[in-house]
Amino acid sequence: MHVNDGDSGQPPGSNDQFDWDQFDSEAYFSHNYLDVRDDDRQIMVIVRDFFASAGVAPGARAVDVGAGANLYPSLAMLPFCAHLDLWEYSAANVAWLRGQVAGFTDNWLRFWEVYRGQPAYASVADPRAELASRTEVHQASVFDLPPRHWDLGTMFFVACSLSADLTEFRRAVHRFVAALRPQAPFATAFMAKSQGYHVGERWFPAVAIDADEVRDTLAPVATDVTVTPIDIGDPLREGYGGMIVATGRSRG
Ligand SMILES: C[S@@+](CC[C@H](N)C(=O)[O-])C[C@H]1O[C@@H](n2cnc3c(N)ncnc32)[C@H](O)[C@@H]1O
Repeated sequence: MHVNDGDSGQPPGSNDQFDWDQFDSEAYFSHNYLDVRDDDRQIMVIVRDFFASAGVAPGARAVDVGAGANLYPSLAMLPFCAHLDLWEYSAANVAWLRGQVAGFTDNWLRFWEVYRGQPAYASVADPRAELASRTEVHQASVFDLPPRHWDLGTMFFVACSLSADLTEFRRAVHRFVAALRPQAPFATAFMAKSQGYHVGERWFPAVAIDADEVRDTLAPVATDVTVTPIDIGDPLREGYGGMIVATGRSRG
């Protein structure tokens, strides 16, 4: 997620104070994911190489939490899972995801090209058909994830971008990692120092975290954690604070 409007003039709020069903999926998608930005490419290479070397057993179940209008975290897990759950809160994004899962648009093939540099991905003959055949979309909250259910997972630009409340940020990260089985690998991405963001005409909240906060939040629940700040793709973008990607394993 790349919109980071520092001077919104809006009051901060908690997750349940916002109408997530009014999230403009198409505006968000068009703004962020029609093409591969350089910052997303950097994240994708890190996540691709991490999952490819993580030793995930055959038959694994994967989850992408707060999938929104983004398929690249899902595609990162495609070679390593037999079943993929997309766990998204907003009715609008759930409808968008169901449409894309049935047959995704060609822009996602440009994202797939980045992954294909790694042999595990190159061996997937038809990512569009594979995603359609093994993916299930659920309308549900990160705060209602069942514990210890999945073998690998992603959560991109969600914990930092669902509330202005640091306590909710930490709860969302902990809930996500606890939804994974012990030692399950995960990748998660964050906006750095975001004050909130517009999607179409509507404003949504964020909490201004940094790499140290990500490390501190993951420390009690994860092992083998690597936190990487990502270079700013477009320095001219107003209020843009960069991104952070973290990989690791759920604690046993
Ligand atoms: C900034 S968007 C990120 C979307 C996508 N993961 C991406 O990488 O671009 C934040 C997402 O969090 C979702 N969200 C908000 N509150 C949530 C909750 N309580 N549980 C799960 N997802 C939530 C929103 O609907 C939206 O899809």
